[in-house]
Amino acid sequence: METKIISIVGEKGGIGKTTLNIILASELQYARGHKVVLLDVDNPQYSIYEKRQRELELLDDDEQEVKKLYPIERVTLETIQDTILKYYGLVDFIIMDLPGSLNVEMVRGLLYIEHVFIPFGHDELEIDSTSNFYLTLKHNFLENDERVLQSIHLFFNKYKLVRKNVFSILRQQFTDANLPLMQSVVKDKTIYKEQYRNTLYPIPQGKEWGNKELRPFFEEIMQLLN
Ligand SMILES: Nc1ncnc2c1ncn2[C@@H]1O[C@H](COP(=O)(O)OP(=O)(O)OP(=O)(O)O)[C@@H](O)[C@H]1O
Ligand SMILES: [Mg+2]
Repeated sequence: METKIISIVGEKGGIGKTTLNIILASELQYARGHKVVLLDVDNPQYSIYEKRQRELELLDDDEQEVKKLYPIERVTLETIQDTILKYYGLVDFIIMDLPGSLNVEMVRGLLYIEHVFIPFGHDELEIDSTSNFYLTLKHNFLENDERVLQSIHLFFNKYKLVRKNVFSILRQQFTDANLPLMQSVVKDKTIYKEQYRNTLYPIPQGKEWGNKELRPFFEEIMQLLN
């Protein structure tokens, strides 16, 4: 099986990396039938791992057995490589959730990731720091002879509706600066941080999943990975 190692990552704290890595993992495994493992590299908080434990407590034993849950592994600098090797070739996607700052865990994790998706908000300062992060990644990981990293994509998360022409000016700035911005955006929605951030279930295929919501985002990710 060809395994892809992917991550929603960025150096800015609280921009939605963990939330979207969980939502993506659940979509890929439960809605699209892929095999996924989620690596929680956010030592020592391990918030994804802890979340799964809490979610499992709410399930009864029968439900736990019936459902094929994707594994969530807590990894450290010492175990990251072995954990990747344990799943490589056996799953379709290894999704890594890295910490929110450019620390040693993050740099180490980045050595293994093949496709990076960087979320950011549409505030001027955030755009500057995100493009700096993009350039750092590009120079150190993408344009490196022994590179593992194959692609980097940027997208807006917590997107609040702004006037259409304001948004197209923003987009143009990215194009002018040669920054690979995704077409789809992830809106700012309370529901994404509540019931939809869930390691046991995908987002139900109703209103919140539809054409104006997360579906185009998932579709674009799948296209970019092919
Ligand atoms: N699209 C969204 N709509 C609404 N809330 C969101 C969205 N994305 C993320 N959030 C919320 O923003 C907060 C920060 O998200 P999250 O913990 O996923 O960020 P992070 O980048 O992983 O942070 P850290 O750097 O601390 O690891 C959380 O409360 C989360 O639910
Ligand atoms: Mg996080």
